[in-house]
Amino acid sequence: MPVYLPMRSEPCRTRRVTCVDDVTLGFRSTLPKALIPPTRMFHIRNETGAHLKDSSERSFPEDSNPDPKNKEEMPPPLAITDTILLSSGHSIPQLGFGCYRSPPDVTGASVTTALNAGYRHIDTAQVYKNEQEVGDAVRRFCNTPEGGGGGGGGGNKVGRREVWVTTKLRDAPGRLGKKRVGNVGDLVAESVRKVAGEGEEGYVDLFLIHSPFAGPEGRAVQWKALEALKREGKVRALGVSNFGVRHLEELAGYAEEPITVNQIEVHPWCQQKEIVEYCRQHGIAIQAYSPLAQGTRRHDPVLTAIAQELDRTWAQVLIRWSLQHGFIPLPKSDTPERIASNAQVYDFALSSAQMGRLDGLDEREAGRVCWNPTGCP
Ligand SMILES: NC(=O)c1ccc[n+]([C@@H]2O[C@H](COP(=O)([O-])OP(=O)(O)OC[C@H]3O[C@@H](n4cnc5c(N)ncnc54)[C@H](OP(=O)(O)O)[C@@H]3O)[C@@H](O)[C@H]2O)c1
Repeated sequence: MPVYLPMRSEPCRTRRVTCVDDVTLGFRSTLPKALIPPTRMFHIRNETGAHLKDSSERSFPEDSNPDPKNKEEMPPPLAITDTILLSSGHSIPQLGFGCYRSPPDVTGASVTTALNAGYRHIDTAQVYKNEQEVGDAVRRFCNTPEGGGGGGGGGNKVGRREVWVTTKLRDAPGRLGKKRVGNVGDLVAESVRKVAGEGEEGYVDLFLIHSPFAGPEGRAVQWKALEALKREGKVRALGVSNFGVRHLEELAGYAEEPITVNQIEVHPWCQQKEIVEYCRQHGIAIQAYSPLAQGTRRHDPVLTAIAQELDRTWAQVLIRWSLQHGFIPLPKSDTPERIASNAQVYDFALSSAQMGRLDGLDEREAGRVCWNPTGCP
């Protein structure tokens, strides 16, 4: 089974790294071979190189296994610089920052606050109407040694390659099929201009089809347009959002580029296990949207008890749950204090028992807080 573990990004390589070698995997049945080769499995090894275990998820068994001689079984601690290796070969920062319902006149400030707080991954979309503001803020941050985002003092600039920007292709209102996808070429080109700015060099890191609502024919038109954009070098990786297993299987039948990501709603009350399992088996990383359940469950007794046990906020507990499961959470906030505290999730860990209590909250469809296109034709 292809397995994705958070890996250290460049600045963190000076710390001891434990993710080591690749394993060539057998091809799985439903994907064309073209989609498979970058799939990798990482073995966890200790610093002498002895093999410890393979794992798709990060378990933190400190309460169930407190014996200090078993300490070497512990995975390396998570860090804000962690990245997930995508099937395209790119590394995406694991902690993302969401921009849905961020009004354009505050998005720039929020993104700047997030980048200064250490986030390196911003999630926008055509329908959020703030791609321009996201792009402007990222470019300002990367071009300004201090003030806009000086990269931790010392006047160092943060390179554009260190920041990851995801956007999503909307489908046009109307009937299913071609009419629903609008002029896709124009749509994607406009997004690149907004996110990347004018000029030859600009690019979007990840472009997703926002939903499968365009129908089989429309989805194919959309995906082909994204593949063309990739060939032009205007986007680094391609993916989808809100795709159910059936949509993913259909896409795998004709995709020439790897489907790197499926962005879906995931939090303890809506875990979408069938889609997650399919994605894990096929090397598709999960970006978890609405990881805070949009705040609707902040009084849940299990959540508040765990937050109290750890002396952390309910939001920090939910983000940590997502990270420990190996998801790529995209918490959104336009409140500077929350933006900062939502990133302060690396000085504690949820025990496996606490993870289990949160895992037990799944309400499947009833737990959903956002839309559900995953079952559409
Ligand atoms: N692909 C898709 O179809 C899709 C759908 C939904 C979302 N997304 C992506 O996922 C991101 C996150 O999802 P989301 O925006 O639906 O919801 P979310 O991140 O689960 O929750 C955001 C809400 O929680 C509040 N909040 C944030 N941190 C908080 C804290 N520490 N304490 C109390 N309240 C806090 C925010 O308020 P303030 O802003 O007022 O602080 C906002 O109202 C989106 O922004 C978007 O990028 C994608």
